[in-house]
Amino acid sequence: MGSLTAAAEEGTAATAIAAEDWSAEAVIYVNGVRRVLPDGLAHLTLLQYLRDIGLRGTKLGCGEGGCGACTVMVSCYDQITKKSEHFAINACLAPLYSLEGMHIITVEGIGDRQRGLHPVQECLAKAHGSQCGFCTPGFVMSMYALLRSSKDPPTEEQIEDSLAGNLCRCTGYRPIIDAFRVFAKTDDSLYTDSPSENANGQAICPSTGKPCSCRNETDVSTNESLLLSSAKIYLPCSYNEIDGNAYNEKELIFPPELQLRKFMPLKLNGFNGIRWYRPLKLQQLLHLKSCYPDAKLIIGNSEVGVETKFKNAQYKVMVSVSHVPELHTLKVEEDGLRIGSAVRLARLQNFLKKVIIERGSDETSSCQAILRQLKWFAGTQIRNVASVGGNICTASPISDLNPLWMATGAKFQIIDVNNNVRITAAKDFFLGYRKIDLKPDELLLSVMLPWTRQFEYVKEFKQAHRREDDIALVNAGMRVHIREAEGKWIVSDVSIVYGGVAAVPLTATKTENFLTGKKLDSGLLDETFGLLKEDIPLAENAPGGMVEFRSSLTLSFFFKFFLYVTHEMNIKGLLKDEMHAANLSAIQSYTRPVTVGTQDYESVRQGTAVGQPMIHMSAMLQVTGEAEYTDDTPTPPNTLHAALVLSKKPHARILSIDDSLAKSSPGFAGLFLSKDVPGANHTGPIIHDEEIFASDIVTCVGQIIGIVVADTHDNAKAAANKVNIEYSELPAILSIEEAIKAGSFHPNTNRCLEKGDVGECFLSNTCDKIIEGEVQVGGQEHFYMEPQCTLVWPVDSGNEIHMISSTQAPQKHQKYVAYALGLPLSKVVCKTKRIGGGFGGKETRSAIFAAAASVASYCLRRPVKIVLDRDIDMMTTGQRHSFLAKYKVGFTNGGKIVALDLEIYNNGGNSLDLSLSVLERAMFSSDNVYDISNIRVSGQVCFTNFPSNTAFRGFGGPQGMLIAENWIQHMATELKRSPEEIKELNFQSEGIVLHYGQLLQNCTIHSVWDELKASCNFVEARKDVNSFNGNNRWRKRGIAMVPTKFGISFTAKFMNQAGALVQVYTDGTVLVTHGGVEMGQGLHTKVAQVAASSFSIPLSSVFISETSTDKVPNASPTAASASSDLYGAAVLDACQQIKARMEPIASRGNHKSFAELAQACYMERVDLSAHGFYITPDIGFDWMVGKGTPFNYFTYGSAFAEVEIDTLTGDFHTRTADIVMDLGYSINPAIDIGQIEGAFIQGLGWAAMEELKWGDDNHKWIRPGHLFTCGPGSYKIPSVNDIPLKFKVSLLKGVPNPKAIHSSKAVGEPPFFLASAVLFAIKDAIAAARAEEGHVDWFPLDNPATPERIRMACVDSITKKFASVYYRPKLSI
Ligand SMILES: Cc1cc2nc3c(=O)[nH]c(=O)nc-3n(C[C@H](O)[C@H](O)[C@H](O)COP(=O)(O)OP(=O)(O)OC[C@H]3O[C@@H](n4cnc5c(N)ncnc54)[C@H](O)[C@@H]3O)c2cc1C
Ligand code: FES
Ligand code: FES
Repeated sequence: MGSLTAAAEEGTAATAIAAEDWSAEAVIYVNGVRRVLPDGLAHLTLLQYLRDIGLRGTKLGCGEGGCGACTVMVSCYDQITKKSEHFAINACLAPLYSLEGMHIITVEGIGDRQRGLHPVQECLAKAHGSQCGFCTPGFVMSMYALLRSSKDPPTEEQIEDSLAGNLCRCTGYRPIIDAFRVFAKTDDSLYTDSPSENANGQAICPSTGKPCSCRNETDVSTNESLLLSSAKIYLPCSYNEIDGNAYNEKELIFPPELQLRKFMPLKLNGFNGIRWYRPLKLQQLLHLKSCYPDAKLIIGNSEVGVETKFKNAQYKVMVSVSHVPELHTLKVEEDGLRIGSAVRLARLQNFLKKVIIERGSDETSSCQAILRQLKWFAGTQIRNVASVGGNICTASPISDLNPLWMATGAKFQIIDVNNNVRITAAKDFFLGYRKIDLKPDELLLSVMLPWTRQFEYVKEFKQAHRREDDIALVNAGMRVHIREAEGKWIVSDVSIVYGGVAAVPLTATKTENFLTGKKLDSGLLDETFGLLKEDIPLAENAPGGMVEFRSSLTLSFFFKFFLYVTHEMNIKGLLKDEMHAANLSAIQSYTRPVTVGTQDYESVRQGTAVGQPMIHMSAMLQVTGEAEYTDDTPTPPNTLHAALVLSKKPHARILSIDDSLAKSSPGFAGLFLSKDVPGANHTGPIIHDEEIFASDIVTCVGQIIGIVVADTHDNAKAAANKVNIEYSELPAILSIEEAIKAGSFHPNTNRCLEKGDVGECFLSNTCDKIIEGEVQVGGQEHFYMEPQCTLVWPVDSGNEIHMISSTQAPQKHQKYVAYALGLPLSKVVCKTKRIGGGFGGKETRSAIFAAAASVASYCLRRPVKIVLDRDIDMMTTGQRHSFLAKYKVGFTNGGKIVALDLEIYNNGGNSLDLSLSVLERAMFSSDNVYDISNIRVSGQVCFTNFPSNTAFRGFGGPQGMLIAENWIQHMATELKRSPEEIKELNFQSEGIVLHYGQLLQNCTIHSVWDELKASCNFVEARKDVNSFNGNNRWRKRGIAMVPTKFGISFTAKFMNQAGALVQVYTDGTVLVTHGGVEMGQGLHTKVAQVAASSFSIPLSSVFISETSTDKVPNASPTAASASSDLYGAAVLDACQQIKARMEPIASRGNHKSFAELAQACYMERVDLSAHGFYITPDIGFDWMVGKGTPFNYFTYGSAFAEVEIDTLTGDFHTRTADIVMDLGYSINPAIDIGQIEGAFIQGLGWAAMEELKWGDDNHKWIRPGHLFTCGPGSYKIPSVNDIPLKFKVSLLKGVPNPKAIHSSKAVGEPPFFLASAVLFAIKDAIAAARAEEGHVDWFPLDNPATPERIRMACVDSITKKFASVYYRPKLSI
């Protein structure tokens, strides 16, 4: 058929289609409502459709299947088994028409505040499992789908597993797990019984018997109003009801129409000439294939969806093959298993489990290996849709299954359009990069997986950045058959195949040949390693980098395989040599027990609300998907959608901009460049050193050059892609080191702080020892779940401009937009209701996008909406600053620090933004909690050709403290003492003067540390770890304790001011508006608690609707952890003013309620509205002299961590984290604990998981200046299974803070740094591994301590084949 002309093909296809009676009627049910899908929507995903029809509870977080925010449940009916199946999927990847005939249930479908919440929703809200709430509907739907898909209640392990495809950046997952834990039991009393309490008065989960907060009595009683409203409406849920098919008033049934409906082959169309086919028979499929040889076959779309969205691939003809029965075969045959190419991975998992039980272990070694590998393959939502054939035919070099198909000797059955079937061995199928042995007129029919024989062993390997839901760095499939010959057990045949090391999976042929016929013996190892090195060569500039690590992994995997087989043979008593017990540690596979979290706090009640662990005020809205974010706001008529034209060069002169193609693009409405800015094009939060639209020179990849607006987001993107820009490249500075070498610094950023006489000290003989070193601190992406978004519209034809923005600083948006348009601030309004996480990333960087959109809106006099795609967001909005530090420390033999000389540099990027303030805080924090009599800290902000780096939780503090903890560790190694001892010896104490002149008052570090030390039983923990390490050669454990002190206040004095507006209404309800933004941290809840206690009314009488620049002017950004202190105090001020006005009336009458009093005041013409104001007293700092009191007070904390590492792969997990913090008298302990846990897990990402890879000198395989890690696929934040197995948080008791509202302390940023305990525990474990090889000296370990850094630091005979013992993996800083 390939010889037919296009027209002829068209004609043949049409005939075939007519003959087959293809239908264009597509029906789906959404939340029980029938919906006929019109033709023409083949380009839409389910997510786009749902949001278009107003179901906006389902969120767009990434669009690539990597975050789970878009999770919905799909139900379909199996005509053969007569049962409906329910499963969670990512709506962002599901083509709309692929769901024809199915029932989709979204978060709106399971419960809301009007009808009553579903227990899943209610539990999550009550357990404080929703902070910003953007991830929440996704979690709800994953849990809901799990419940509906299991006849029996799921186990706790299944619950944790099922959430691996859902990311949360706020909570640290613990409360989510605790919330859902209750569903792990059938007992209905769970829903009706009160929780029991342990001796400490802690609520005990009735399901697990462990402490948890899911049924915390305090919560229930204190948040009465919120809970009662839902409790009244729904009845307890019983698992017997949730069997997936049965109808009850709570669960939506599978629509009877869809049960009876006869499926038809479908032919539908989409935008831009796209055709969508759904054949129902193999013959129909083959016919289509003959007509359209280039047609894209689609099953799960998990690969194709990403290609079309992010790689600009366009497919004109798509054929959904998921209804072709022949491709769904799953059969046990005589010589093995037959697996249809369209079989979904989740179904394969279930099938393999059954087969393994039925056939026993000898025959199913391959099945077991595939099943184990599938556990680490993507997340549940992807496995529910992704297919075997899709994975094979994509031929990705990092496919997890292809090396296994090859190693197991699987065969692929291929059919052509003429029904000819041929068989090819998996090992011959992969021809080149994404090239397979499949002609255009062929498709993959099935896979034949042979049984294994007796003494045949198959093993899978995979090492990724993150264990769960991550693609492999290197993976492998290995198989060996051993047979007896002349009394010896020799290798009969062997297959060793690696993925992730070349364009195709590589077979280690020389090694296989060498091993065949040999006796399995450790004597073979050395020679085998040598051959493997030859078989699997990795060039220095291999794509993906990490060459030394990936090469080491290939040998490590084989070593593990060798030990595994030896062990299996030993068990059977076939080998004489017993394996050394310590070696067993190389082959124990990782199994994760259930996470246990405990929280220990006292609640000091002050008035009606303050001090109580109340749930987040928007929690109920968030769990039901009713909470609106910027992107959910209904757009005004005529709204245009924006896409940015971005620089593709790190440093270049713009020669020309050609917009001719863009202008003729569908839906195009305008392109705006620097020349179009009506006001000022230069802007910036402190100095105006950046352009809204680059006019002449671009200074980073991702810099905005222009903005295109069109009728839809997709059309705007398409048009923006057609703007052609020519550049003349200029030299670029792509690291801190290059900047230092070139003297490339932001002007006037040189800073110095000094105490004592450092120079003199080093010259005199007061120091017994002097050490010098360098610390590299890696950056971090904010990864707020809600991407940047603004909707801006002109009022009165541009006389005023209004906007709704996802920002931490509405006032910055107001300013940027006013400057850009040349309008007075009084005519520009910015409102923010809530944001889906910010963490500093929406403090300043969001404003430039609003300014760009406002130019288009103003010029066209039309509303414009801009939402950044996740990749654009990550590559353009800046990140946590990377730092480079050079230290020189003098100390006594007794371990006392005498002098510190420190030089620090941060990577500011291409504009100053907040980099100087970040540097300054790092300098303030560089003593951490240590008393240093002679100290000099100097710093400077580097100008580099990267997007401007910006604020991020901690704001330089964590970087400064990490540097301190590094040199403390270095000292301890020099002194051969534990770092904890050296820390204790040098703690600061009450009354000392810090290196910047502040007097230390109310210092609680000693109490915090001592309580932690007792709580974690440090001495015992050390003994246990030593004993474990002595018995295990290839797995090591490590522990560490880390203290922190975090200064509270904006270091710019003027920013420490806050305004609030409090309005009392005649029904006794109170509306509060203040300058702070609710971004999940519970600010509104805490502030409302302050107002409620002030008026002695219940919390339910107080409401905070939104933040708006026209209500409270000139607000500082919501940042620096200080918002509760500032806005709490401002609100208190306003409440007190109103109370003072009410007092005369109150004292006159006997009012039964606050409402009565308010009404009486109204009748007496009392003003019931007040503006409150607060400034932080007694602070200030003068950089001219380097002295002052920048902070109001300090928040203290300490953390203990215990980790276990696999020294052969670099894999690690955190066994325990124990945290003690002093938060004074907490205003809301539940919210504060949520902040601690969330910050700790975010910090764990920074310390040990999240690595930014930029195109720089260290990463030559990435285009210069480009960000490689620009989505959840390549940038791995912690997932639910990365949290500590035991996670304990305690608040220090009985320590009121005299410096802040209601004796509380700020919490948002301070706990973040505590996660460095994990980094140092990893380092401790690595030190134990190195000691086995005789390396006891100091070694650097940069953050993040990824598997690469861990593996390469655990030097052994394998790593030495690829790198020196001093090798330090490359880091973009
Ligand atoms: C978030 C996420 C996580 C992932 N994690 C992993 C992971 O851990 N490990 C891993 O290996 N992969 C992973 N992937 C990649 C992907 O999910 C898998 O490759 C998946 O198996 C593809 O199946 P699919 O049905 O979705 O393929 P589709 O996208 O539907 O199709 C993929 C390709 O296969 C072709 N094709 C499908 N069936 C046939 C057939 N019968 N004959 C010929 N061609 C055919 C299609 O035309 C298309 O080119 C991940 C993807 C995402 C989005
Ligand atoms: S939006 Fe679908 S997984 Fe992220
Ligand atoms: S609550 Fe999960 S991302 Fe914010």
